Amino acid sequence: MVIEKKDITETVNNMNMPKHIAIIMDGNGRWAKKKLMPRTMGHRAGMSALKRIVQACVKLNLPVLTVFAFSTENWKRPKDEVDYLMKILVEFVNKELTELHEQNIRINVLGDYYCLPRQCQDAIDKALILTTNNTGMIFNIALNYGARAEIIKAVREIAVLVKEEKVLPKDIDESFFSNFLFTREMPDPDLLIRTAGEMRISNFLLWQIAYSELWITDKLWPDFSEEDLLQAIRDYQRRERRFGGLILDKEGDNNA
Ligand code: FPP
Repeated sequence: MVIEKKDITETVNNMNMPKHIAIIMDGNGRWAKKKLMPRTMGHRAGMSALKRIVQACVKLNLPVLTVFAFSTENWKRPKDEVDYLMKILVEFVNKELTELHEQNIRINVLGDYYCLPRQCQDAIDKALILTTNNTGMIFNIALNYGARAEIIKAVREIAVLVKEEKVLPKDIDESFFSNFLFTREMPDPDLLIRTAGEMRISNFLLWQIAYSELWITDKLWPDFSEEDLLQAIRDYQRRERRFGGLILDKEGDNNA
């Protein structure tokens, strides 16, 4: 498939693009409720929004996109809803895989997906294997993901190495630690987008978002458009990122 690149990239500054965008896709349920539909229809519309945004990110040549599809806490939802989410995950992977692969996208999963139903595991394994050597956008799908669990897993793995005297405690620094996270060897998100207006992080990428710019919109995820994505990027490009330091003007004054 030939991708039309011209219009979308013209409205953002190509010199200051985020390398990694992470998205909390919230509001599927509220979208459905507003339309007097069952919540599952909100998730279906959410899946269409996801396809749209993945395509927009490909057009923008984004190196890494991460989406929060299912959290470790989402198991608490009614069984019917969980089953439906698993069903559309399989549908998404099966329907989109060929095109994602043709677009050189590398699919990756954040989270322990071996706790998901067999059909999901098989669909994911197929997608991971098929796209493993792709060199285009990394598309991280966070599934059965929780950031605290991810950090604990990393600590346990490092503790074993220390116990076996393969690593000295003094050699454990931030970059060493990052290699034990699901996002190893990827840049941290520059921009974290959350839809549906909630002002919280919900146990998503706690380590990786230390210096991410947050962009929150009241739009519900199924309504999130390519233009919303571009607006988030334009707003990001206007921000001054100081990473805890100072921006000094010509006279050496701090403009913080
Ligand atoms: C939050 O909305 C969304 C989710 C828990 C699931 C996200 C899933 C999708 C976007 C479907 C497509 C994903 C894949 C990978 C196929 P919510 O249900 O919490 O909405 P609410 O807060 O309005 O109730």
